[in-house]
Amino acid sequence: MKPPIIIVNFKAYETSYGKRGLEMAKILEKVSIETSTEIIISVPATMISRLAQEVTIPVYAQHVDGVSEGAHTGAVTPEHIKDAGARGSLLNHSEKRVRMDELDDALKRMKKLGLESVICVDRYELVAPMGLLKPGAVLVEPPELIGSGVSVSKARPEVITNAVNEIRKVEDVYLIAGAGITTGEDVYVAIKLGSDGFGVASAVMKAKDPQKVIQDLVLNAIRAMEEK
Ligand code: G3P
Repeated sequence: MKPPIIIVNFKAYETSYGKRGLEMAKILEKVSIETSTEIIISVPATMISRLAQEVTIPVYAQHVDGVSEGAHTGAVTPEHIKDAGARGSLLNHSEKRVRMDELDDALKRMKKLGLESVICVDRYELVAPMGLLKPGAVLVEPPELIGSGVSVSKARPEVITNAVNEIRKVEDVYLIAGAGITTGEDVYVAIKLGSDGFGVASAVMKAKDPQKVIQDLVLNAIRAMEEK
């Protein structure tokens, strides 16, 4: 079985930082170990260093700036996140958009440093163009469904189907689907439609019992991958 790509985006939820952020990361690490899957956590920049030391699952940044080292106040550079222990980063999330030239700059520098990259797009039409920049994966998420509790798999399955066709135009780039993923069935459908994995935030970060939620999502991802 090809392993599913699983990304939990911590965003800026109240469970994303401090003691609660650490607890969340530990829960996800536990489920990752129990299910023999890799769960990538995309965390606030201020938490990268701490979480990279405390858990064994891969830690990503949520954003990096494509600027070089030097006079750039407030920048989070590829060098910063690498030094803090990140394995990679999301880029161009709908909530943190990046100009395409800046994206290209960031990706080139990330590659030199051996960092992984996942470019987010808000529509399937951008899957192939962004794929040409050769990130590790493209994550497609219709913005209107992000945080809505209504999944892309249910509300806009054609986005996944079209995105899967688009990613075939570029070589060696994975396609991930996200937005509103809430149940195991959402994940199962997304992967059956051709996605290589899923991205999730609110359903896990706001859950009363995040362990139960992520277990359900991961087990359904495995079930769908096994059936491929
Ligand atoms: O990066 C994943 C994220 O944007 C999805 O958010 O809350 O719809 O799972 P959510």
